[in-house]
Amino acid sequence: MLRRLHLDQPASFAFTSDNQKWAEAQVTKYPEGRQASAIIPLLWRAQEQEGWLTRPAIEYVAEMLGLAYMRALEVASFYFMFQLQPVGSVAHIQVCGTTSCMICGAEDLVAVCKEKIAPNAHEVSADGKFSWEEVECLGSCSNAPMAQIGKDYYEDLTAAKMGELIDALGRGEVPLPGPQNGRYAAEPLKGLTTLTEFDSGNHQYNASVQLAHDIGDTVKRIDGTEVPLLAPWNQAAPTSGGKAATPAKKAPAAKKAAPKPAAKKVTAKSATAKPAVKAASAPKAAAKASTAKAAKPAAKAAKAAPKAATASTTGEKKPRTMSKPRAAGADDLKRISGVGPKLEGVLNDLGFWHFDQIAKWGEGEIAWVDSRLKFKGRIERDNWVDQATEFAAEK
Ligand code: FES
Repeated sequence: MLRRLHLDQPASFAFTSDNQKWAEAQVTKYPEGRQASAIIPLLWRAQEQEGWLTRPAIEYVAEMLGLAYMRALEVASFYFMFQLQPVGSVAHIQVCGTTSCMICGAEDLVAVCKEKIAPNAHEVSADGKFSWEEVECLGSCSNAPMAQIGKDYYEDLTAAKMGELIDALGRGEVPLPGPQNGRYAAEPLKGLTTLTEFDSGNHQYNASVQLAHDIGDTVKRIDGTEVPLLAPWNQAAPTSGGKAATPAKKAPAAKKAAPKPAAKKVTAKSATAKPAVKAASAPKAAAKASTAKAAKPAAKAAKAAPKAATASTTGEKKPRTMSKPRAAGADDLKRISGVGPKLEGVLNDLGFWHFDQIAKWGEGEIAWVDSRLKFKGRIERDNWVDQATEFAAEK
């Protein structure tokens, strides 16, 4: 399947302030130097906000994580959970067309989509409400044929059932996900033949359907007009009835936080301000606090701490820096894989304008620069020094 950026793209993208805070919080879940791993949840949230993943949104997320745009595009274009073109305002239907589903009637489901939505995959219906596509195995083969609608699976489908689902969604209803033929989960149609003592506990539905039912965001968009729906493990406290796990409508924090200029906050303040990052730097502070220099007044020691700690415990060595580029102009540091516009600006601010400067970094210099980047480890991970050496040699 060819997956390319849509020809018509909006001029810009920014997370809503609530989504921005959510995204910044996700970044703190990853260890130092691995913040780029937050790319999938961030791209997903961008898609939830807009309905599909625009080029500005992909670039925005890349900026947040200090990634080259291409790296983010690689992820967005690889997974078909990401929609690279506009989709229906109510739902985008992904019909599994792989072996089990194909044998059990996936082609009939596709025929219904063609008839009720649009003749071609990725074409938005005339009323703008729906779009569809055929996708590869979604891992629900024992409940074939099936389709993913929004965030949930509708299984054991027939053509008639698919038609009913689309009609119901068009009326604003959200049919219950899961098996559509009365099965609880993936047990034999005629009932259990083994493990017959199975007890579903207090759950009316199987685990994934119960969760979909409780959260209730199957085809919901998170456009900033409401508090973003949190993953269950992030929700404050379950309600007694086990229903509606929707988070408190307004968390005080969400209201107070003044919207900040998105791009800058993300990388600049968020990472350092978050508890997780603070925790990561705690060992340094602790090490320092325990040093003998504590003879000095506490306040002074506290101030001196960061510098002393880095110098003595990390083997940092300050590289030669320049106050401005040479007369011929700065090198395009973005040619280094892993350096985007944002990081290039950081490097310039630190006094690095040319490939030959970076090419001279040794272990100590790398440690010095690394400690001044928001996300650690990327210099060695992406081999900046080797790359810079090659680019410098071009001259
Ligand atoms: S073949 Fe359709 S879910 Fe696996």
